[in-house]
Amino acid sequence: AAPVLYESEDATISRGVVEANHTGFTGSGFVNYDNVTGSYVEYTVNAAQAGQHTLTFRYANGTTVNRPLDITVNGSLAVDDLGFAGTGAWTTWRTVTTTVNLAAGSNKIRTTAVTANGGPNADSLSV
Ligand code: GCU
Ligand code: CA
Repeated sequence: AAPVLYESEDATISRGVVEANHTGFTGSGFVNYDNVTGSYVEYTVNAAQAGQHTLTFRYANGTTVNRPLDITVNGSLAVDDLGFAGTGAWTTWRTVTTTVNLAAGSNKIRTTAVTANGGPNADSLSV
């Protein structure tokens, strides 16, 4: 099936804010994670079928330091420390992909900062 795009600004946000001050995002903005460990964005995504699905995160990281995120699916750790390397500028957006197991129907995909730098600026998740 064609990927469905979930905007970060429509997700559940804990310790982060929706902003639009760096161009190149889709939708109405992006999430700026607070620069603390534990800040997160949680997307509610639908899977037509149970099984392996590719997640594509679109992000910017204007620093030279990786900002890894832990990816949980329905409360279980699915990907430990998924890397979000520097993109060169806050206006330069790139994608990172990974594969996770989803249940049929609704799934909660939470992306949590694991360093005191917080996460990258998060534009969207495509599933
Ligand atoms: C800058 C930038 C923010 C970013 C932040 C960070 O303040 O404008 O968009 O989130 O750096 O380092 O996390
Ligand atoms: Ca930030």
